Amino acid sequence: METLEFKHKGTSDMKIEDFRNATDGFARSANITSLFLGKINKEESVQENRKGETMNNNILDKTKRVIDPNWDFREADTKEFTHCIHTYPAMMIPQIARKLTHLYGKNAKTLLDPFMGSGTSLVEASLTGNIKTSYGFDLNPLAVLISKVKTTPLDIDELNGTLKIILRSEDYKTLPDFKNIEFWFKSDVIEELAKIKLAIDDIEDEKVKNFFLVAFSETVRNVSNTRKGEFKLYRITDENLIKHDPNVFEEFKKIAEKNIQGMKGYITNKKEHDSKPQLFDTKSSLPLESNSIDIIVTSPPYGDSRTTVAYGQFSRLALQWLGYDDAAALDKNLLGGMPSKELDIKINSPTLKQILNQIANKDVKRAREVLSFYEDFDNCVTELNRVMKKGGYVCFVVGNRTVKEINIPTDLIMTEMFKAKGKYKHITTYVRDIPFKRMPKANSPTNEKGKIITTMNNEFIFILQKI
Ligand SMILES: C[S@@+](CC[C@H](N)C(=O)[O-])C[C@H]1O[C@@H](n2cnc3c(N)ncnc32)[C@H](O)[C@@H]1O
Repeated sequence: METLEFKHKGTSDMKIEDFRNATDGFARSANITSLFLGKINKEESVQENRKGETMNNNILDKTKRVIDPNWDFREADTKEFTHCIHTYPAMMIPQIARKLTHLYGKNAKTLLDPFMGSGTSLVEASLTGNIKTSYGFDLNPLAVLISKVKTTPLDIDELNGTLKIILRSEDYKTLPDFKNIEFWFKSDVIEELAKIKLAIDDIEDEKVKNFFLVAFSETVRNVSNTRKGEFKLYRITDENLIKHDPNVFEEFKKIAEKNIQGMKGYITNKKEHDSKPQLFDTKSSLPLESNSIDIIVTSPPYGDSRTTVAYGQFSRLALQWLGYDDAAALDKNLLGGMPSKELDIKINSPTLKQILNQIANKDVKRAREVLSFYEDFDNCVTELNRVMKKGGYVCFVVGNRTVKEINIPTDLIMTEMFKAKGKYKHITTYVRDIPFKRMPKANSPTNEKGKIITTMNNEFIFILQKI
């Protein structure tokens, strides 16, 4: 398992918030630059800070990183409108997508989220008024289903009426049968879920049916034998399993009513807009015209799907209930899902080359795994560059992983990769805290028992303009 953390020169393991209040401008900038540098001891770093001012300022110019608490949204309601529908790993804070579309998408007509997840950017695009069409791609069928539901306005009376019918369901035809179903669900839970599923399958209107399938998917997760609040699938302890006795219909009702409330808020705020979420592999040629996109707002995977943020594992049980057979294979197909065979770095990013060499010195296999993510991502950048209009903005929200205790500055690497494909001006990179995001805050770096270190606490929002 990998870890995600920041190490700061001259401040031991001081976190960004510790020096956010620093009044000395130099101390602040020196610390910002050190976000992606290695850890050295206190006395050394103080000396280096004094004599290294010019160097640090240069690095700061290059990274354009700005710590800005205005992007933290500590008190924000992240569950407004249809954003309350279905949780998803590493969701974007809606307020970030909103602020990005307001700052950089004022004149935009088209938005793209190439790694759409649960569709946060698409929902926000549909609330702006000026953005008329949004495209979203994801390889996870559950992500596409959730995004469709979150961006499809529906009649509230019809939803309430249909919910009443579903709640009256007393029968099931057949019980589902997929690998380990009895391990993940108690027998009576399986029967209750099957009754709800049968009633949903009988709904004729596809959009209404999808709405309740998403509520069903949330229910599946909550009533299963899995530990709550985790991305990965872990079963609750035997002791807790004895006490585990969920009321499946009550759970479904509660979730469906919450989602209907969210839809109520959405339909009164949504502007004239066409949302187009699609099941698509962003590594391949995108089904979009060249020079057609005004703004990209996205939070891509960072290459940790196989380890920390397992999108496929998170979605597997729900997908199996919804009838997707190949759900278990999903993680392999996501960016970086298949490790590169050789450490042959053809990508045009000096920072990536330097980092991969450092990792390879410790563990070549891990270096190849990291490389495979960036090779896949490079294919995406070729396509994203093709579809972006001149003058348009590319806004990425990323975190920086640490592999083998080496911090990977994802924001710098991705910026270099875009610049290698086309003409891009780096506008700025905002550094924010992650107050809400469902990210593991502590992690075992090498699966060594008892060795826990802090995981990713910050995100980087980099903005590029195609010129
Ligand atoms: C960080 S999540 C996006 C979360 C999203 N911003 C939200 O608010 O829910 C990254 C997404 O990238 C998707 N992804 C990974 N590899 C992909 C690929 N090759 N093509 C399309 N989507 C991919 C994953 O399935 C995941 O849903």
